[in-house]
Amino acid sequence: MSLSVPPYVAPETMEVLYSTKQIADRVKAIGQQISEEYKGESIVLIGVLKGAAIFLSDLARAISVDNTFDFVAVSSYGRARVSSGAVKLIKDIDNPIEGKHVIIVEDILDTGLTLSYLRGLMLQHKPASLKIATCLDKPERRLVPIEADYVCFKIPNRFVIGYGMDYAERYRGVEDIRIFPETPPGH
Ligand code: IMP
Repeated sequence: MSLSVPPYVAPETMEVLYSTKQIADRVKAIGQQISEEYKGESIVLIGVLKGAAIFLSDLARAISVDNTFDFVAVSSYGRARVSSGAVKLIKDIDNPIEGKHVIIVEDILDTGLTLSYLRGLMLQHKPASLKIATCLDKPERRLVPIEADYVCFKIPNRFVIGYGMDYAERYRGVEDIRIFPETPPGH
């Protein structure tokens, strides 16, 4: 079987969904909200690699309460995922979270399979509390019931790239969020 690499499409040609200013404003607002809600507490931010790395780095800097961060990585069995929850952990947290206030930080809440799997896994560690922050939420695509506590933007069912989000590993470094011109296979 030969896996073809999709042709490169220049991001400048793609429609901007959210500008760097719109993203920065929302991240700042969510950072302030989290700082107020967790006043006097310490929190652990757990980013989901690789997509959430950029959102997490901005969010951590917008939070004024004591915080540390950690990362997990998951793989899904192919792009055409099914509602059986076919998600596998490929990198676990480095430090214990028992008794801690945890916020899982994700780039997109889409079908919900990744976050419901991760939420279940993290709850086994008995954190004091567990919340979810996501940059984007695509409620139309949900296969399992899960909602985020902090959402920068709710978006329609369009495939997007930039601000950490990829198509075939490309475009993560694009500063704004853009609409990819076609829907990738299996999405
Ligand atoms: P789900 O909620 O388990 O379906 O998975 C969410 C993951 O799918 C995200 O963390 C992204 O890695 C990926 N994803 C979903 N929609 C998009 C998109 O529009 N662009 C890039 N990645 C996406």
